[in-house]
Amino acid sequence: MCGIVGYIGKQNAIPISLDGLKRLEYRGYDSAGMALFDSQKNKIICVKVAGKVDSLEERFRNSNIFSNCAIAHTRWATHGIPSIKNAHPHNDCKKNIYLVHNGIIENYKFLKEKLKEEGHKFYSDTDTEILAHLIEKFFSGNLEEAVVQALKLVKGTYGLAVISKNDPGKIVAARNSSPLLIGLGRDEFIIASDPSAVVSYTKKVVYLEDGEVAVITPEDFSITNLRQRKIIRPHVNLKWDFEEATKAGFPHFMLKEIFEIPETIQNSTRGRLIFDEGLAKLGGLELVLDELRGISRMVICACGTAYLASLAGEYMIEEYAGLPTEVEYASEFRYRKPILNQNTAFLAVSQSGETADTLAALREAKRKGILSLGVVNTVGSSVARETDAGVYNHAGPEIGVASTKAFVSQLTVFALFALLLGRQRQLSSVMGQRIAKEISALPEKVKEILKLNSQIRNLAKKYRDYNHFLYLGRKYNYPIALEGALKLKEISYIHAEGYGAGEMKHGPIALIDKNFPTFAIALSDSVYEKMFSNIMEIKAREGRVIVLATNGNNEIKKMVDDVIYVPKTLEMLSPILAVVPLQLFAYHIGVLRGCDIDKPRNLAKSVTVE
Ligand code: AGP
Ligand code: GLU
Repeated sequence: MCGIVGYIGKQNAIPISLDGLKRLEYRGYDSAGMALFDSQKNKIICVKVAGKVDSLEERFRNSNIFSNCAIAHTRWATHGIPSIKNAHPHNDCKKNIYLVHNGIIENYKFLKEKLKEEGHKFYSDTDTEILAHLIEKFFSGNLEEAVVQALKLVKGTYGLAVISKNDPGKIVAARNSSPLLIGLGRDEFIIASDPSAVVSYTKKVVYLEDGEVAVITPEDFSITNLRQRKIIRPHVNLKWDFEEATKAGFPHFMLKEIFEIPETIQNSTRGRLIFDEGLAKLGGLELVLDELRGISRMVICACGTAYLASLAGEYMIEEYAGLPTEVEYASEFRYRKPILNQNTAFLAVSQSGETADTLAALREAKRKGILSLGVVNTVGSSVARETDAGVYNHAGPEIGVASTKAFVSQLTVFALFALLLGRQRQLSSVMGQRIAKEISALPEKVKEILKLNSQIRNLAKKYRDYNHFLYLGRKYNYPIALEGALKLKEISYIHAEGYGAGEMKHGPIALIDKNFPTFAIALSDSVYEKMFSNIMEIKAREGRVIVLATNGNNEIKKMVDDVIYVPKTLEMLSPILAVVPLQLFAYHIGVLRGCDIDKPRNLAKSVTVE
């Protein structure tokens, strides 16, 4: 999920690799490292640090090592806390093979056990390390052959670069669902996971495709697939400069991250759904499954967007697991007297895992001695360390201050969690199968929604000058109305109110006139008729209404000012689709009003103060 750089050629690979890593720094990471061939001493040197690329650079400051081949990495931990031991590159038992890896090896536990039985000794907590041992197992002089053999046994995602002391003069690279490209120079090549690391050296690049392996020497490179069939791929010319490359051509990280949502859902669910049995398998909860079966109540604490994801989570868990669930602002929970007994589980939800209020609420719950759980994106963060068990979102680093893909990953994890808790209780296998199937269909449906980007931009043009907005939703999409309003506030500084639509008549309706537009989420679900009536009440008061409706609902078009259509899914999963157009709407209004999209005024990505 984070960064890979490698160099092979005539120049010194060390400064080039360090420079490449620095250009990947914008992505955020927790540790860094490099493995290189020392050309004079004919051995591999590996250096790792638990902090910044600067500290890695410092380690090479006064060295006179020259290397014409190196692989380097910045890590965004998925398995094992950020530490020197877990930092990449990873190596085999005999320290002949070194590799860097982005992604997740799903079946690493199984492979690790087998390799241990065969006598391999492991030193880290990562999923990555098994790759080094697996390649070692198959190595008999030719590195690419061993890599191909090893990858045939691996399930999961990888961008991979490998070197070996016993087959020097080459880098072997491979890819499956984690980007990797080869930058072409004259008698030199730079490999990278992201074009931003190579654009200042060369604009000529070859992208690896899934299931491909490349062998790169100072003179040439070749690509094959896992069946070792040769692939000829012409290079493409990057049109981006460095600034554009960091955002993959998107004008802002927020938009890039919204467009990453299909992949984010895949990453959050990868290896976690058992379709035949209608089950969710969450590795981080395995040790507390019995305790989870015994609880009779759950209290969730979070802040901001994470709080709103938790509100939708509450509905999912109560409906499908029948488990009484409450959601509370962490900032409230920490100062009042919550009633918690031994049958209650506490769940902290946080993208950063460092939010001061969420952490304080967690510590308060722990003081009462109850089971504490976390849904966290940042591996090794304070919430992750201090909870008894938990689930990682695997959304990767989120740079935009306004949370978008991380919010969707929280909703996705809640759907998995509801499935797991539900199947421990009354949920039938048939319903479980249906949920699992629908979850796996979400990435394609989000892709459909993303095609509406220019329609939503046009809508934003139409509404950009209003200074107030009302967002309405019911049931599962009540929290999404709140999130839509929060996004608009954060990104465009427009005053926006989010309400459960049933509450409108109890006050907010007084605000409605032609200068106070409403964004209503009225999907074809169990509360559609009620939403429809609320929309009519607004129209009767000359309010302008944008409606988010389900594909095929032609009736609504005639009644309101504008409609955005989204595909149908299960009601419990509909927030995952509904929020995407709302994020895009807030984004475009913010852009049109000249706001600082990725760093909105007065906001911080991680709120570590009270
Ligand atoms: C999201 O757009 C916000 N900027 C903010 O509400 C955020 O969700 C909140 O501060 C919680 O952060 P956390 O998930 O890192 O705990
Ligand atoms: N899964 C690997 C780890 O946790 C790779 C993480 C990354 O992509 O940076 O070490």
